[in-house]
Amino acid sequence: MVSRVIPVDTFDLVIFGGTGDLARRKILPGLFRRFLSGQMTAESRIIGAARSDMDDGGYRQMIREAIAEFGGAEKSDTTGLDAFIDRLHYVPIDATGDGGWKALSDLMRADVVRAFYFSVAPSLFGALAERLHLHGIADAHSRIVVEKPFGRDLASARALNETLAAYFKEGQIYRIDHYLGKETVQNLMAVRFGNVLFEPLWNNHYVDHIQITVAETVGVGGRGSYYDKSGAMRDMVQNHLMQLLCLIAMEPPSRFEADAVRDEKLKVIRALQPIAAHHIVRGQYDAEGDDPSYRADAENPRSFTESFIAMKCEIANWRWAGVPFYLRTGKKMKARSSEIAVVFQDLGHTIFEGDVARHRNILSIRLQPNEGIDLQVTIKEPGPGGMRLVDVPLDLTFADALGEDGEDVPDAYERLIMDVIRGNQTLFMRGDEVEAAWSWTDPLIEGWEARSDVPKLYEPGSSGPEDALMLMHRDGRRWREIKA
Ligand code: BG6
Repeated sequence: MVSRVIPVDTFDLVIFGGTGDLARRKILPGLFRRFLSGQMTAESRIIGAARSDMDDGGYRQMIREAIAEFGGAEKSDTTGLDAFIDRLHYVPIDATGDGGWKALSDLMRADVVRAFYFSVAPSLFGALAERLHLHGIADAHSRIVVEKPFGRDLASARALNETLAAYFKEGQIYRIDHYLGKETVQNLMAVRFGNVLFEPLWNNHYVDHIQITVAETVGVGGRGSYYDKSGAMRDMVQNHLMQLLCLIAMEPPSRFEADAVRDEKLKVIRALQPIAAHHIVRGQYDAEGDDPSYRADAENPRSFTESFIAMKCEIANWRWAGVPFYLRTGKKMKARSSEIAVVFQDLGHTIFEGDVARHRNILSIRLQPNEGIDLQVTIKEPGPGGMRLVDVPLDLTFADALGEDGEDVPDAYERLIMDVIRGNQTLFMRGDEVEAAWSWTDPLIEGWEARSDVPKLYEPGSSGPEDALMLMHRDGRRWREIKA
């Protein structure tokens, strides 16, 4: 398959927090790949801005090292790397004071796209937005990109939205949820709305239930102080899992266009029902051998924060009434594996004598690893012995199906940054969506805080606490196996 890279307009991208972890691990290595592919034009520039006192040379060296550490195979292209590094600049900046803003203003070019990536603590968003304005650096066409966490509850998210709205229009604000930039997540929409096969079955007449699992093997060591104030609900469910659920459950948008898609997602969030306490299971990973427990990683011996959560959700609308959506996500689980599974209903009747097995069609959308989609179908077991049925997957692993070009798929951050430059907000969260998501999660969190709920311990390398299995067993269902 031939890859078709369309260059985006020439830009000046300022990364506030340009020396930080995200910039070095993801943003710059990603931009380097886009540069090599020709999508980032040779005239575009990236300007790191942070507190450290450094010049262009120091920053270039820092990013060279970051790409050596976090980049992929493409880093061996030394000519390309030199050309990319040349596109970098650095301005020391005082986010809450006056230092550096004049220098930044002088550096910016007219007639190119101006984008500002706020890769800093949300408490600085207001100060940055205000100064960009005061110094005339941002204009009506500029874009700002903001990272999660976007608030920690409805009140703080609202306050952030209001702060940004004082300086930027909604059409200029790009709230990143990197799950929306994952290739398979977009494929989910292509599969749903680009095929005649699935949409007629995509409702409570044919779907038994839906499972969304995002399992990780990493613990929270190294970022315990952030995570302990957050937990799996705020860190993963309120944003990433909620976005996946929306894309699965939303009505077909009238067009594949930002507000049409976001309007439909918003309706799903608003139709989510409150969840009874016994439909939520919170867990915390235990110690094992030399591996520290969650509490040790979080450096909080009395922590009640969850590193795992499983829940049964309901969407009260015509399409989904009666179809449970089971969500689970956790750290230190048995494999890194993210999957959405649409489990269709049993056949009402079988014509095959003696066939007692429960055959089901399952559409599984694998986000990572081995991105792909498979559809479990029932066929005859080959060979003699009568009509014995067996379930087999119709497997479409993208790397196989798309050949070598599959490897050149941009990662989530690369894709999303290019969308910012193109001015396409389809894969970004709108302010009202984020607020609606918090409106749904806030009472759940308040509920377990009021009950002083203690998370159940689970063994690292497992599928989470026993109670999470029970959550489905009680309904006569079971989780799909977590496998890499
Ligand atoms: C981040 C969370 O948003 O997503 C992390 O803060 C989590 O806790 C990460 O590990 C998972 O992202 P991915 O792309 O590795 O699945």
